[in-house]
Amino acid sequence: MSRIRTKMAAPALSRRSVLAVLSLMLNAAVLCNGGTTSSFVRKVEKAVDMPLDSDVFLEPPGYNAPQQVHITQGDLVGKAVIVSWVTMDEPGPDTVHYWKENSKHKKKAKATVTTYKYYTYASGYIHHCTIKHLEFNTKYYYEVGAGSLARTFWFTTPPEVGPDVPYTFGLIGDLGQSYDSNKTLTHYELNPAKGDAVLFLGDLSYADNYPNHDNVRWDTWGRFVERSVAYQPWIWTTGNHEIDFAPEIGETKPFKPFTHRYRVPYKASNSTAPFWYSIKRASAYIIVLSSYSAYGKYTPQFKWLEEEFPKVNRSETPWLIVLLHSPWYNSYNYHYMEGETMRVMFEPWFVKYKVDAVFAGHVHAYERSERVSNIAYNIVNGICSPVSDQSAPVYITIGDGGNLEGLATNMTEPQPKYSAFREASFGHATLAIKNRTHAYYSWHRNQDGYAVKADSLWFFNRFWHPVDDSTTAHS
Ligand SMILES: *[C@@H]1O[C@H](CO)[C@@H](O)[C@H](O)[C@H]1NC(C)=O
Ligand SMILES: *[C@@H]1O[C@H](CO)[C@@H](O)[C@H](O)[C@H]1NC(C)=O
Ligand SMILES: *[C@@H]1O[C@H](CO)[C@@H](O)[C@H](O)[C@H]1NC(C)=O
Ligand SMILES: *[C@@H]1O[C@H](CO)[C@@H](O)[C@H](O)[C@H]1NC(C)=O
Ligand SMILES: *[C@@H]1O[C@H](CO)[C@@H](O)[C@H](O)[C@H]1NC(C)=O
Ligand SMILES: [Fe+2]
Repeated sequence: MSRIRTKMAAPALSRRSVLAVLSLMLNAAVLCNGGTTSSFVRKVEKAVDMPLDSDVFLEPPGYNAPQQVHITQGDLVGKAVIVSWVTMDEPGPDTVHYWKENSKHKKKAKATVTTYKYYTYASGYIHHCTIKHLEFNTKYYYEVGAGSLARTFWFTTPPEVGPDVPYTFGLIGDLGQSYDSNKTLTHYELNPAKGDAVLFLGDLSYADNYPNHDNVRWDTWGRFVERSVAYQPWIWTTGNHEIDFAPEIGETKPFKPFTHRYRVPYKASNSTAPFWYSIKRASAYIIVLSSYSAYGKYTPQFKWLEEEFPKVNRSETPWLIVLLHSPWYNSYNYHYMEGETMRVMFEPWFVKYKVDAVFAGHVHAYERSERVSNIAYNIVNGICSPVSDQSAPVYITIGDGGNLEGLATNMTEPQPKYSAFREASFGHATLAIKNRTHAYYSWHRNQDGYAVKADSLWFFNRFWHPVDDSTTAHS
């Protein structure tokens, strides 16, 4: 064929090319029943980290003042909060004072203090304190440090776990500390949807992109995000940038800086490691998984998840949400199929237990799937294409927080059928649960005003209202 073509006269060739293009277009019309690849074209530019002297990295004034204050849920149901902070010069006071809004009665809780070394870096004094027996749906103030250096923050506990409790989650992944990261966080803070807590999808500081994983960039990241995470819990998922595996300096156990700095309530869900755990919050049951811990059959994570799914009571928590870092359904040419092995192990459970949504990061772009599953395959039957499945979750990749590695722009073509919407822009999302049947989801790209929704839809709960909520057919 090709030899014949090369011998053809020019006019014949061009007519032939036109025909070829036409037939490709016809093919595309027949084959391309995938979703939407956004026509929004972002100016491609490198994401640049904010310099060390940026306003967002400023240390609080005063000798040994508490910094990098952050909170997360501290138990299974939201009646406890873990408060963490760092002091740079000496351990300093280990007490958190806290009180209900409009109450003069201050209570106290004690923190533990830890430090660690990594390459030539020596950490400050990292404090973790679990405040327990809080009341639901209540605003609390808390104070760390003492005397003139005391710093006061506040948080509101979630409503009591129950089926029709409205609650709004923010969704941020792969944030890093570039100018774009700052824009993502600012847009989340200003979003009129007003997130009550952040589901963070892994890859926090990107310190490991610096020489010797310069852990000073963990400190700057802690100061950067304090303006949000000191006031509302961020629920942590671990990503590959938390692994920090460095056998050349004897660091053969992964996750050292992360586990020293960030605590999660994994024991409350009978997990044996902080990388996989679950919490209930308002009307949601949130399962956090680790793409970077063993998940093969018989491993601790596998056995934990096997016992975890049957515990979910949809009459108590209608919304079943899973967080993990490496996406299972991803049609970008980045990290392609990295999530596949975990999908093979766990996807049948996700369909059986009707998970509503799976949020992932890792790929620095945005993508939303239709409800699909791919669980019919076994070695001999060869059935290996995703199929529409109303018992399956929607898979959302939102690794577009803005880190210095930049955007993933190269997509597989044509867009696969299961992919409902994809766009290579930085941004964040919110999931506003209204009641047991309805939740409103929206993704916001950074180039627009923070109130503009670039992708949004109603999720219908898979247990209480399993009505088709796909969007491709209507778009
Ligand atoms: C980060 O964003 C905040 C809030 O918009 C702004 O005040 C600050 O100047 C920004 N800092 C940098 C370095 O972009
Ligand atoms: C954890 O295990 C203990 C002991 O088996 C059990 O009593 C408890 O209910 C379990 N907690 C959860 C959240 O599964
Ligand atoms: C599930 O939750 C509902 C509502 O809280 C409760 O009445 C019911 O007993 C629970 N079911 C089980 C099996 O625990
Ligand atoms: C996009 O990714 C594909 C597959 O990895 C590769 O062959 C192609 O060269 C990439 N295109 C660009 C423009 O980088
Ligand atoms: C649940 O919320 C949706 C969206 O706000 C609303 O249309 C629906 O009527 C609500 N259902 C109930 C039972 O209140
Ligand atoms: Fe990642």
